[in-house]
Amino acid sequence: MDRTFVILKPNAVKRGLVGELLSRFERKGLKLVELCLKQLTRDEAARLYEVHRGKAFYDDLLNAITAGPVVLMVLEGRQAVDVVRKLIGATDPTKAEPGTIRGDYGLDITDNLVHASDSPESFQKESAIFFSVSGKTH
Ligand code: CMP
Repeated sequence: MDRTFVILKPNAVKRGLVGELLSRFERKGLKLVELCLKQLTRDEAARLYEVHRGKAFYDDLLNAITAGPVVLMVLEGRQAVDVVRKLIGATDPTKAEPGTIRGDYGLDITDNLVHASDSPESFQKESAIFFSVSGKTH
């Protein structure tokens, strides 16, 4: 079965949206394989967002993701990567469709509530920073 890695960002935790956001994934039929609340270190954040190093928004991104505890999870289900990206919506919440998480809950592109892996390769790399799980179960 396919897996993806998801982070509920500090602003989602601060706003008390953890239960609501988790229930959206569960209602869709995705299964929680890993779940934890954690304050990311600067080093973990830098590993997570390595591909964005050097971009104009990089420092803001690292500051935002380390601003408070996050919820880290691995979700399992058919085509989990694509399904979760559809559920969370476009990166910029002002462009995300209503009905998606970013479309329903926010406006800020840096504090856009949720991060999710954009490919099975990103899942492997990102989840390995925090969990010892593999991409597939048999
Ligand atoms: P996320 O899915 O966590 O992956 C990288 C993050 O960078 C993204 O969500 C946004 O929070 C942030 N991001 C991407 N593009 C921009 C941008 N143009 N300006 C500011 N932040 C951005």
